[in-house]
Amino acid sequence: MLLHGGFGTRLRPLTHTGPKQLIKVAGKPISQWALEDLRGSGIKDVAVILGNIAPERVVEYYGDGSWLGLNLTYIYQGYPHGLAHALYMAREFVGDDPFVMYLGDNIIFEGIARFVKRFEESDSEAMILLAEVPNPQRFGVARFDDKGRLIGLVEKPKEPPSPYALVGVYFFRPPHIFRAVESIKPSWRGELEITDAIQRLIDWGLRVDYDVITGWWKDTGTPEDILDANRMILDSKLEGRILGRVEGAEIQGRVYIDEGAVVSRDAIVRGPAYIGRGTRIGSGTYIGPYTSIGSGCEISNVEIENSLVEDGVVLKDIDSRITDSIIGSRSVVAGKSNKIPSGYRLILGERSQITL
Ligand code: DAU
Repeated sequence: MLLHGGFGTRLRPLTHTGPKQLIKVAGKPISQWALEDLRGSGIKDVAVILGNIAPERVVEYYGDGSWLGLNLTYIYQGYPHGLAHALYMAREFVGDDPFVMYLGDNIIFEGIARFVKRFEESDSEAMILLAEVPNPQRFGVARFDDKGRLIGLVEKPKEPPSPYALVGVYFFRPPHIFRAVESIKPSWRGELEITDAIQRLIDWGLRVDYDVITGWWKDTGTPEDILDANRMILDSKLEGRILGRVEGAEIQGRVYIDEGAVVSRDAIVRGPAYIGRGTRIGSGTYIGPYTSIGSGCEISNVEIENSLVEDGVVLKDIDSRITDSIIGSRSVVAGKSNKIPSGYRLILGERSQITL
């Protein structure tokens, strides 16, 4: 089960027109990294839970999933009533089979294959993944007794009982988890919390296992998280490959240039960097490390680094360097032409973030 709904509030304005899980990092939507992880764990059938923010875009992008080697079923949740509510929506799809619930905004470097195997071989009711974090109050947090046994889970506690946050991947065996969801009430934030449902399993004396992940893991809830994920993916998952045309430009380090992309003669691309299909990098352009440029972009006479540029963006004639930025698809950022009075000309949507 892949969760593709939610509000995306902290990522506005990027999420005004599409779900956050479809934001592309190094050429792939965040949720595609999750789906490929599920496929790599031997899973074939996935229910994708859709929310209210342009759900048709998710269906349009993934289709029946066959191009990914998956068989996708779409389930419409609509308003995000909580992770436990989303899980309950898929009870018929799941039937009696053990299943994984993967939050579509989580990226887990080491992948989940070994945890899927461990869960399949066990007979526990549920298994959760934990990661030690410096800011546990942002997450669900595990509570242990003095023998190190898991005794509880608290959602976003002001005073965390441990530094172990719940990673957004959960393993369950029906039917108890569905009974647990039926028995809980909405939390203070008005959601049916998966932490409360798992707490029920523990309180009923059922076996809930946990494992701790050691590699990096990212819940991409904020723009900073997305830039971090971009850096991590470019650092560790990107292979250097030039499929497009490089017209004598300077390419340094690990750079992926997709088919149909063109990099002009006096441009510099310094990896790790990703340049999407059909994008044109014009003269006078510097693409610095940790930059992902989407497909169909036109970039000329611009310096940019440590940034994420989505599909169909135009950037041209900008006199100072763009850094640490996320530029939503089909945006246009252009330097001043001589015809308009000097000063900045801005047309910004709600909750835009600009540093001048
Ligand atoms: O990322 C790990 C954290 O995810 C856990 O540590 C927390 O215990 C868990 O509650 C969750 O916290 P968030 O506040 O980050 O959850 P968020 O509302 O961002 O939703 C997580 C994903 O699930 C996101 O991709 C949106 C989707 N979602 C969310 C809700 C509430 C749905 O599809 N339906 C929903 O009803």
